[in-house]
Amino acid sequence: MTRKIVAGNWKMNLNYSEAKTLLKDLMAQKEQFNADVELIICPPAPYLSAFAEVLKDQEWVQLGSQNNFFLDHGAYTGEVSPTQLKSLGVKYGIVGHSERRDNFNEDYSMLSKKVKALLKNDITPIFCCGEQLQVRDSNVYKEFIMKQIHDSLFKLKPEEISKIIIAYEPIWAIGTGKTASSEQAQEIHHLIRSRIASQYDEKVANKVGILYGGSCNAENAKELFSQADIDGGLIGGASLKADSFLTIANAFE
Ligand code: 13P
Repeated sequence: MTRKIVAGNWKMNLNYSEAKTLLKDLMAQKEQFNADVELIICPPAPYLSAFAEVLKDQEWVQLGSQNNFFLDHGAYTGEVSPTQLKSLGVKYGIVGHSERRDNFNEDYSMLSKKVKALLKNDITPIFCCGEQLQVRDSNVYKEFIMKQIHDSLFKLKPEEISKIIIAYEPIWAIGTGKTASSEQAQEIHHLIRSRIASQYDEKVANKVGILYGGSCNAENAKELFSQADIDGGLIGGASLKADSFLTIANAFE
């Protein structure tokens, strides 16, 4: 384990009043969060500005975006730029979630532009990868996952990729209650880290945070996070309750 990171991806859930209640519940327990953990919440974009006001000067949790455009400004109706996110104090940005790859046709070249745009604005990309069930069953899943990483990230300079967080999220585990076993997750995390070591070097590979995502919850986080190459989790459903998010964030040995 190189880093300890837990990020909550709230996706398109909660109305504003519910989201404020969840933030309040998290704030009420802030002393109980392990201070060694990089804790991140990624609420829906319209709430980022108000959340940034509440969380300014708070060190125990950082804000992340769920998506961003790859240019800083211009005539791109409806898009949110990394410069705008930076100006709010957003420190992390999810890129390439499978829900965006599938529903919005985001391909490797768009994702690599989004990653670069975040880095340029000092926002840490949380780059997602992962395979569908039929790919897992076909036994080419390792190369499938590595191609996603190779095509979007391996042109980055060593000092750029060192800053990245990668989230391995098998699509068959997202929102299904069917978590990857700790052995299945560790196998992929180890593969990712060793490929980064061969492409760059071991020092770089050890700096990259590698998170697991997909039905990670208060019951299974400890076992997953105990694996050598699992640096934490990207949490969907279980991040929508303060208690389970706290249990997950404190699940490191
Ligand atoms: P669940 O934890 O709800 O399976 O979602 C995982 C995820 O997609 C996080 O980005």
